[in-house]
Amino acid sequence: MVLASGKLLLSKARRECYAVGAFNTNNLEATKAIVSAAIELSAPIFLQMSGGALKYGGFELAGLALAFAKKVPVPVAVHLDHGPSVELARECIGFGFSSVMIDGSALPFRQNAALTRKVVAAAKARRVSVEAELGRLKGGEDDVFSARHSYTDPAAAAKFVKLTKVDSLAVAIGSSHGAYKFRGIPMLDLQRLKEIASVLEVPLVLHGASSVPPSLVAAANRYGAEISGARGVPESQIRKAVKLGICKVNEDTDLRLAFIAAVRKFLHGNPSAYDPREVLSPAVEAMKAVVMRRIEVLGSDGKV
Ligand code: G3H
Ligand code: 13P
Ligand code: ZN
Repeated sequence: MVLASGKLLLSKARRECYAVGAFNTNNLEATKAIVSAAIELSAPIFLQMSGGALKYGGFELAGLALAFAKKVPVPVAVHLDHGPSVELARECIGFGFSSVMIDGSALPFRQNAALTRKVVAAAKARRVSVEAELGRLKGGEDDVFSARHSYTDPAAAAKFVKLTKVDSLAVAIGSSHGAYKFRGIPMLDLQRLKEIASVLEVPLVLHGASSVPPSLVAAANRYGAEISGARGVPESQIRKAVKLGICKVNEDTDLRLAFIAAVRKFLHGNPSAYDPREVLSPAVEAMKAVVMRRIEVLGSDGKV
């Protein structure tokens, strides 16, 4: 199949009231898991890589993602997640990505808008979709770390989209990156989301949406991990957010947890194993199960 346009995937999702899952990859195993889950459930997906992922895997990782995306019978948008600069966004556009995010959320409003406009100009010429972010999520790794949460203001969001002509907007409504999202009761600010959706035409994106299933954390801990106090966004909250206008939902941490738990379990039970393919195959299956579950929660199964 040809590479899917991020904008088209999201406009269909918005019209039909579901959300497209956006899954981060850093290697062959995650890529295989994500793509095979999408095929099994006939779901459109975003296959996305952060700047950190591209540092780790080089553009060879992006080449792998593009090769899978073009080969499989479901629509796949290959996307730059949390693009830190115009330069990297341009490089991804040139390389053949169908969608890029420019993350100016750490900047003051005007500078974020100016940065976003530059990427929109570069992307539109190549029919590449652009996601931007207004408001700032707490937590994260590598290039996307922030010490505090700053909620998206609905009026500012409307102004931002008008100024930048961006195709989709990531909003900060209480979720955060990584495995430690909430201290107390996990809660998204759904009232704020409703207000943002009522003043915006573009599809909205939820970052930091991993659910951090206690069963995955327990499985990792059973085989030697030390992860305590981890808490994610409950699936019930994600379903509500999708009903209120979230059309793209990002998930990375849950795949990482599934990977770690499966590798630890395999090595514990097979101390003499030394073939990486044997060690990593259960991890592929575990990540695939996570992606399939998320696709069902978002209602994007069968939406090709
Ligand atoms: O939103 C952040 C993603 O989980 C990517 O994280 O920068 O460690 O690749 P990373
Ligand atoms: P999680 O850390 O909740 O998986 O969020 C991933 C993300 O937002 C990628 O952009
Ligand atoms: Zn994110």
